[in-house]
Amino acid sequence: MRWLVLTLFLTACGGGDGDRAWRLRAAGPNADLATLLVHADVDAGKRAFGQCAACHTIGAGGQALAGPNLHGVIGRTVASDTRFGYTQALIEHGGRWNAARMDAWLAAPSRVVPGTRMAFAGVRDPMERADLIAYLTEESR
Ligand code: HEC
Repeated sequence: MRWLVLTLFLTACGGGDGDRAWRLRAAGPNADLATLLVHADVDAGKRAFGQCAACHTIGAGGQALAGPNLHGVIGRTVASDTRFGYTQALIEHGGRWNAARMDAWLAAPSRVVPGTRMAFAGVRDPMERADLIAYLTEESR
């Protein structure tokens, strides 16, 4: 019995999906993005970035892969890495990346920007998106 309690404790506190589900509950049902960001975790975002890393580097000066380097992307003008050839669709989307726009984009890229070449279905879990935004923000300082 004691090991079970310990396992549950480690699952809740040790990072990973259990931790994320717990934080999502702590944020409350129908939490808005600002509330989710209060509960977001940069390290969890870094882990979640694993699903982006096949196509994106994040370190300063990192090379473009299938997608552009994402260092400093929060606050950056959309489609502005001059070393990358963006679609016209993303260029015309315009403006700057902030948390709200990033949240919508990461939920469903091709719904936000029809015609984008980012071949990625999207991240359904709002807490996971908040974690990713916290990490992208950290890497944008
Ligand atoms: C299969 C490859 C692929 C995956 C996986 C992928 N992306 Fe992308 N991403 C792209 C491509 C290609 C573009 C450029 C899209 C265009 O020009 O329409 C892009 C563009 C972006 C942009 C816009 C950058 C800018 O300079 O305006 C952001 C932000 C972004 N991706 C974030 C992410 C994040 C975060 C993840 C993981 C959750 C992710 N992407 C997963 C390929 C990918």
